[in-house]
Amino acid sequence: MQALLPLVTSLSMSSETLDNLSSENRTFAPSPEFAAQANAQPSLYLEAENEGVAFWERQANALTWERKWDRALEWNPPFAKWFVGGKINATVNALDRHVAQGHGGRIAFHFEGEPGDTRTISYAQLLTDVCKAANALTEMGIVAGDRVAIYMPLIPEAAVAMLACARIGAIHSVVFGGFSADALLSRIQDADAKLVITADGGFRKGGAFALKPAVDEALKGETNVEKVLVVKRTAQEIPWNAERDIWWHEIVDRQHSTHTPEFFDSEHPLFILYTSGTTAKPKGIFHTTGGYLTQVAYTHKVVFDLKEKSDVYWCTADVGWITGHSYMVYGPLINGATQVMYEGTPDTPHKGRIFEIIEKYGVTILYTAPTLIRTWMKWGEEFPNQFNLSTLRLLGSVGEPINPEAWIWYRHVIGGGRCPIVDTWWQTETGAIMISPLPGVTATKPGSAMRPLPGISAKVVDDNGVPVGDGHGGYLILDQPWPSMLRGVWGEEERFKETYWSRFEGIYFAGDGAKLDDDGAIWLLGRVDDVMNVSGHRISTTEVESALVSHEAVAEAAVVGAADAMTGQGIVAFVILRGGVDHVEGEELVKELRNHVAKEIGAIAKPRQIMVVNELPKTRSGKIMRRLLKDVAENRAVGDATTLADPNVMKLISEGLKSSTSED
Ligand code: WTA
Repeated sequence: MQALLPLVTSLSMSSETLDNLSSENRTFAPSPEFAAQANAQPSLYLEAENEGVAFWERQANALTWERKWDRALEWNPPFAKWFVGGKINATVNALDRHVAQGHGGRIAFHFEGEPGDTRTISYAQLLTDVCKAANALTEMGIVAGDRVAIYMPLIPEAAVAMLACARIGAIHSVVFGGFSADALLSRIQDADAKLVITADGGFRKGGAFALKPAVDEALKGETNVEKVLVVKRTAQEIPWNAERDIWWHEIVDRQHSTHTPEFFDSEHPLFILYTSGTTAKPKGIFHTTGGYLTQVAYTHKVVFDLKEKSDVYWCTADVGWITGHSYMVYGPLINGATQVMYEGTPDTPHKGRIFEIIEKYGVTILYTAPTLIRTWMKWGEEFPNQFNLSTLRLLGSVGEPINPEAWIWYRHVIGGGRCPIVDTWWQTETGAIMISPLPGVTATKPGSAMRPLPGISAKVVDDNGVPVGDGHGGYLILDQPWPSMLRGVWGEEERFKETYWSRFEGIYFAGDGAKLDDDGAIWLLGRVDDVMNVSGHRISTTEVESALVSHEAVAEAAVVGAADAMTGQGIVAFVILRGGVDHVEGEELVKELRNHVAKEIGAIAKPRQIMVVNELPKTRSGKIMRRLLKDVAENRAVGDATTLADPNVMKLISEGLKSSTSED
């Protein structure tokens, strides 16, 4: 990363929506061997452009429908219906058809529990498990349209529970197992769930954690929950309400192993998934069936280049997030993939656990998040280097902008310099990947998600909704409907319109800032709410963070704009240092880092303060909570930190900042 645009050194007011400060000139083309065998060839872009909606019909045709649709798309902004009149069952696509085609013996999941217990589950077995669970749900009185809350550790029964709901048309609402009883209650209430599926607990960080007591606590609130279905995972002592609670093994195991599926309307709701807004009440994003399944299957096939007979695919996300829904459950199973599912944390019992599992199962495709990649950088190369990672042939990233240096590290240290990297941009709301390289086609640039997938239209626009030219920054918008788009916010039509469709009339605004580089490649710049305004320049937190991470001593950085009497906002940076790298320390290091940012981006982006920390405040899905850092940087009491993975982090940071110095 280098080059500073002359304009940013002046203190004049900038008219850019978001300044384009850094530039990256390295590119990595796929090898000829990879390109030749890739599922997606260059012609796909042209086909999508020429065919329009018919392109999506072609993708939908890859699924098994009981009845074909009458109309591919009905679009009354902001309401879309896809494959109208079609009838489909999600699990017939994920399971029955593979078994019917003679692939019942193929492994669906290599499950690895944190304590080291393993289970190998074939497609035939998974179908049986889902049929039994579907029969059990029916016996418990659950019918199509009912809402079922799922609050589970990352064990196979979590996927079975989701699929059993889908099989009978019940709408699942998975609540991440790390959330509190309060968070669970508000989600149960909002969706008006009738049943909760949970476990006694799960294994994490070397011990058993409990889930069932949180369900009991939540259900002290007012709900219409009739039954709680409990998987025995840890066998720890748990409170039991004989009237309400049922052991999974007691009701599921005795069911018939077959189940005749019913087919549902293409627009039948498949699931609700809550996104935690940083302040407001969580939004119940809901997705329907036909369009969602079409796009997750298509994107999984072209972006991850899945070869179902030979690949071992591993998405490290939890089922509690959209990535777990789309790229661990629905997309891969529809495509007949063999997957790894791992229950625990990456550092238990040692910091090489993920690499050990890659070696053990011969993982070929790895899909993970920048937060984990930067954590690995912090721990140092000795952990991945102890294991054989040579089976890997493709790497993916999702959840946050990936800093160019983290990308390069991922490519070399994990991917051995030979694996294409797909940096995939999407959201809970979009349901499936929207912007990403095609691994056998795109010459990638480290840190860029590159361009919209064939079939998708995304643009970067200014305040007035006018597309910015190459070399400029602005708001990322989606101006054409897509099959897996959210169909609404559960029970809140006004909020749906207001949140996503009001900034630019009839156009979906995702909340993210982005820029186009001189070649038209898309660079995500973080949430527009996080943009800093320094002396009239709108600077993206992502660019300053990436500049810091490009220094050899830094593994991870979080940057915020703090009120500043002189410049409007001043840049305050929090950095985590990298393991096993020699560097100067203290004041000397801070000075070096400030100068490094000035060199990479320009003097305007030089942080006012830099603090070295051991941890950063992150949500359970690994996103940095800049809002809390901003409270610290502006000397305020730290706001609501209940969604933090580790609530103690903020205390340590506040204490540290008071003793650190600021310059200039
Ligand atoms: C961010 C996760 C940059 C972005 C699938 C988005 C990314 C939010 C990327 C959605 C990426 C996700 N590059 N930023 N490749 N992927 N984001 O709903 O801010 O948990 O709006 O969905 O994550 O997060 P969500």
